[in-house]
This record gives sequence, structure tokens and C-alpha cells, in this order.
Amino acid sequence: MAKQLTIPALALSALMATGISTQVLAHGDVTPQGVNTEGLTPLGEEWVDTNPYRKPNDDFERAVEVGSSAYNQNCARCHGLEAISGGIAPDLRLLAPDFDGDEWYKYRVINGAVRDGKVYMPKMADYLSQEALWAIKTYLDVRHDEME
Ligand code: HEC
Repeated sequence: MAKQLTIPALALSALMATGISTQVLAHGDVTPQGVNTEGLTPLGEEWVDTNPYRKPNDDFERAVEVGSSAYNQNCARCHGLEAISGGIAPDLRLLAPDFDGDEWYKYRVINGAVRDGKVYMPKMADYLSQEALWAIKTYLDVRHDEME
């Protein structure tokens, strides 16, 4: 007799079918949103040192598209809509679109920010893939250029 599928099992297989990352299960007070990174060159487990999607790059347009939506869903509530800080957290448009900016970005998304035992920023790399996070950096690079 066929086993009846439960609703969560169905939802999960639907998610997997569309290629949305399922590693983003809720943890603490963070409710990360799945990011569909389809179309971006996969980067593997090991973190690269600098934004692999920065232009000129075939992945650039797609990265901005993915990054814009991923940013607004996962970072905007603290860092501000469209990366314009409302004062709660630093304005990420100020990050340089170069090696130094990438290095600091990578450090923060992997380590988060903890002060006096209080979590100011969660370790976003625990919830989002490297591809999703570099796509967000690509979007921030564009916002940086638009600010000048
Ligand atoms: C819960 C709120 C919160 C969320 C969500 C959050 N951040 Fe942050 N972030 C902060 C705070 C607060 C700081 C400042 C920490 C400090 O200076 O100690 C920060 C700092 C940073 C910095 C360093 C900026 C600088 O100028 O020093 C980067 C880069 C960063 N966040 C990226 C991100 C990205 C990318 C996301 C989404 C994937 C994100 N953050 C989500 C609160 C948040």
C-alpha cells in the first residue's frame, strides 16, 4: 500500500525540485530565507577570498538579481532596505568593491558580530550558501557604485 505523503514531505520535495537550498532551517531568532542560486557558477565548500562574480563576469547580471532579493530578505531588516542603513547596523554600501572590502565582508558573514556576549549579527554563512553571500556582495558593489 502506498504510504501517504505528509504535507511537510511534499513541501520539502517541492523546495528541492526548484533547487532552493534546504540547509536554511530556522535557528534561534533568525529565520533565513532560502535563496535560489541557480544559474550561478557553483563555488564548493571552501570559501574563496574575493568576490568571484564581480564584473566583468558572465555571472554578474544573475548575481545582482539573486543578491538583490537575497539581501532584501536576509539583511535588510538590520542593514536597511536597498542597503541604505537606518542606523541600526552599518551601511553596507560603504564596503569597497575590491579585495579589502571582500575580505571584511567575508569575515563578518562567517563570524557574525558578538559584543559582551550579545549577538549583534548572526553568522549568516551558517544559513546561506557561499554563492548566495557573494551574490549579495555583488549587489552591494552595485549599490556602492550608485552612491558615488
Ligand atoms: C540581526 C541584525 C543583522 C542581520 C540580519 C545582518 N546583520 Fe550584518 N551587522 C549587524 C550589526 C549590528 C553589525 C555591526 C556589528 C559591529 O560593528 O559589531 C553588522 C555588520 C556587518 C558587516 C560589517 C560592516 C562594517 O562596516 O563593519 C557586514 C559586511 C555585514 N554586517 C553583512 C551582513 C549581510 C550580508 C547580512 C545578510 C546576509 C547581514 N549582515 C545581516 C546586524 C545584522
